[in-house]
Amino acid sequence: MVPQKSKLLLLSIGCQLGKIGVFPTDMEGGHSSELAEKPMTTISRHCFGDDSEESPFSISIIENMKEDYGLFVWPCSIVLAEYVWQQRLRFSGASVIELGAGTSLPGLVAAKVGANVTLTDASDRTEVLDNMKKVCDLNKLKCNVMGLTWGVWDASIFSLHPKVILGADVLYDTTAFDDLFATVTFLLQNSPGSVFITTYHNRSGHHLISFLMAKWGLKCLKLLDVFSFMPSDKASGLSGNIQLTEIVLNNGHTKYL
Ligand SMILES: C[S@@+](CC[C@H](N)C(=O)[O-])C[C@H]1O[C@@H](n2cnc3c(N)ncnc32)[C@H](O)[C@@H]1O
Repeated sequence: MVPQKSKLLLLSIGCQLGKIGVFPTDMEGGHSSELAEKPMTTISRHCFGDDSEESPFSISIIENMKEDYGLFVWPCSIVLAEYVWQQRLRFSGASVIELGAGTSLPGLVAAKVGANVTLTDASDRTEVLDNMKKVCDLNKLKCNVMGLTWGVWDASIFSLHPKVILGADVLYDTTAFDDLFATVTFLLQNSPGSVFITTYHNRSGHHLISFLMAKWGLKCLKLLDVFSFMPSDKASGLSGNIQLTEIVLNNGHTKYL
C-alpha cells in the first residue's frame, strides 16, 4: 500500500502569513529537455497561527518532486504539524523524536515551539537525512539528525529518551508495521510516561493497527478525525480519511501529557 500523493493539491493551500509556494530552484534559463534530467527541487512554505495570535511563524521545506517518499511533504505531515502547533504547550522544553520524518515538518514545528528535537529516517536514506540538515539550516532551527531504521537496534537508539514520539504517514506499508511498532514500543519503554502521536490514512488498516497495539502492549489514548481540529483553510486541501492517534504503553501507569 502506498501513501496517497495528493501533494499537488496541498501546495495550493493558502495560510494567514502567505501562500504555500512552489519555487522550482533549477528552472532559470533551462530548456525543458534539461529540466527533465534535473531533480525538481522546490520550497514550500507552511504557516502556523494567525494575526490574532502572538507569534505566527512559517516553516520552509525543501522538497524534491522526482524523489522517493521521504522528500515530499505528505498530507499526514501537514496534519501532525498543525496538531503540534495547537498543542505547543506540551512540546515546549520536551524531548521529541520524529520517526520516518522525511521532510520533517512536524518535528520542525516542535523545535520552533521550544522542543529538543531529533529527526530520524531510515539509516540508508542518506539523501533524506541530508535534506533534513538543509531544512534545519534553512529555518535556523537546531535539531539532531540521525539514521534510525525501524526494528534495527543500533547503539544510538539506546540513548534516546523521548517524551513525545512523532510519526506522520509511517503506517503505510503493512510489511513494516511490526518493525515500526517494535521501535515505538522500545522508545516508550525507554522513557516512562512518553507518548507516540501519529497520523495515518485510514484505508482499511485500522483493524491491523488495533491488533498490533494489543500485540505490543500498547493502547490508544486519543483518536481524532482530522476535520475535528484542522483549520478549514488547511482541511479543505486535504484528501482522504486521515486520523490522528495518541498511543501509550498499556501498563496502567502512563501519565497523560
Ligand atoms: C510516506 S513517507 C512520510 C514522510 C513524512 N513523515 C511525511 O509525512 O511527509 C514515509 C517515511 O518513512 C520512512 N521509512 C520507511 N521505512 C522506514 C524504515 N524501515 N525505517 C525508518 N524510516 C522508514 C521513509 O524514508 C519516509 O521518509
